[in-house]
Amino acid sequence: MERIRVADIGGFEGREVELCGWLYNKRSSGKLHFLQLRDGSGVVQCVVFKGEIEFEQFERCSNLPQESSLIIRGEVRRDERSSIGYELGVCHIEFGQEAGEYPISPKDHGVSFLLDHRHLWLRSSRPAAILKIRNEICKSCRDFMDKRDFILVDAPIFTPAACEGTSTLFETDYFDEKAYLTQSGQLYMEAAAMAFGKVYCFGPTFRAEKSKTRRHLTEFWMIEPEMAYCDLDGDMELAEDMIMYVVERVLDKCQEELKVLERDIAKLEAISRPFPRITYDQAIERLGTLGSDIEWGIDLGGDDETLLAAEYESPVVVHRYPSAVKAFYMKGDPQDSRLALCMDVLAPEGYGEIIGGGQREDDLAILEEKITVHELPAQAFDWYLDLRRYGSVEHAGFGMGIERVVAWLCGLKHVRETIPFPRMIQRLYP
Ligand code: 4AD
Ligand code: MG
Repeated sequence: MERIRVADIGGFEGREVELCGWLYNKRSSGKLHFLQLRDGSGVVQCVVFKGEIEFEQFERCSNLPQESSLIIRGEVRRDERSSIGYELGVCHIEFGQEAGEYPISPKDHGVSFLLDHRHLWLRSSRPAAILKIRNEICKSCRDFMDKRDFILVDAPIFTPAACEGTSTLFETDYFDEKAYLTQSGQLYMEAAAMAFGKVYCFGPTFRAEKSKTRRHLTEFWMIEPEMAYCDLDGDMELAEDMIMYVVERVLDKCQEELKVLERDIAKLEAISRPFPRITYDQAIERLGTLGSDIEWGIDLGGDDETLLAAEYESPVVVHRYPSAVKAFYMKGDPQDSRLALCMDVLAPEGYGEIIGGGQREDDLAILEEKITVHELPAQAFDWYLDLRRYGSVEHAGFGMGIERVVAWLCGLKHVRETIPFPRMIQRLYP
C-alpha cells in the first residue's frame, strides 16, 4: 500500500492508498460519514460507508472532533463534484490523537483572535494559500538570482551600527557592548560585491517601526542584490526584471491559491515591461495635479505612493529623490547635487514601495563627510570605508521587501497576513 499526498491523488485512480492528515470538516448521514481530510498538500473527501469498514471504526467517526489526526486507507475514486476531481472510498482508519474542542471554527472570527491563534490558524485555507504564494515568491527570487549568476552571501543579524537611520534600531546587549539587529544587509553586500562581483543576501531584517500601518512590520524579510560596476540604470533594470520574473512565476504556479484568495488576476496579468520611470521632480509635479499637498523636498508618504501608483497598471519606478531625505550611503547625482542616484519601485493598487535602492557613494572623502553629517559613529563604519580605500568602483543594489510583494500579489489589505508569525509594535505572541 502506497502512502501518498492528497495533491498527488490524481495519479492513483482505482488504487488503494494511505493518506495521513487531520480532520478538516465532517458531515454524517445514517450509514455514511464524509470526512474532509487535510494533509497540507490539499483536502480530500473520504467517504466512510458503514458496510465497508469495521463497525468500531465507523462508530468512532460519529463524534470525531475537528483537527483530530488520522491515517486513512481506501480506494481512489473519480468524483466529478469534487474540486480536486477525486474522493477516497475508505476501508480502514487509524485514529491518532483525538483533538480537544478546536478554537477556530468555520464561522467568522476577528483578526485579533485569529492572530492570537496564529499557530493553529495556519491550518486554514486562506493563510495556507497566502503562505504557499509566499513560498513561490521566495523560490522565484532565488531562482532569478541563480539564473543571473549572483552568489548568495549571508549577512549578519547582529550589527555594530545603523544602515537605515538610527530612529528604528533595535538595540541589544552584546556582552557589555551595544549591538543592533540588522536593518539591512546592504553594507555587507557592498563588501561581498567587491569580492564576488554580483551577490545577494536574503534574510530577516528588523526595524523598531513605531508607526502602525498596514505596510509595516518590525521583523520582515528582504532580498538584497548588489552589483559591482553597475550604475542606477543597471539597478533599475535588474529590479524590473526580477519583479517581472516573480509575477510571472506566481501567475504560472499559484492559480489555485489565487482563486482561494479571490484575487483579481487580470490586474497581475496586465503588468508589462518596460515599467514607467519618472523622476522625483516629475512625481511631485504629478502629485500636485492629483490633489496632494506634498512639497518638493519631502519624502513620499504612503498616501502619495498610492495616489501616484494608481496612475499606472505596472509598478512605477521613481528615481532621484532629494539626498536630504535618503540614507547616508547614496551617491549624489552629478547633474544636480541636491539629488541622490536612488530609486523606489511602487507597486500598483495601493501597495506602496516594494523596492528601495540605488547607486552607492564610492568616493572615500565624500562618504566620510556624509557619515559625519549624519552623526554616525565613525569607528563602527571604518571597515565600510575600507571598501573605498581598496579598489573602489561604481556599484549599486536594492532591497525588495518580501511581505510587501506577498501582500500585493495576494491582494491583501495588511502585511500581517503575509508572514507566518508577524511581529508588530503590539504583537510578539505566539
Ligand atoms: O527602502 P529600504 O529601507 O532600503 C534598504 O534597506 C536598503 N538598504 C536596501 C538595499 O539597497 N540593499 O527597504 C527596502 C524595502 C522597502 O522597499 C520595503 O519593501 C521593505 O524593504 N520594508 C519593509 N517591509 C515591511 N515592514 C517594514 N517595516 C519595512 N521597511 C522596509
Ligand atoms: Mg525605502
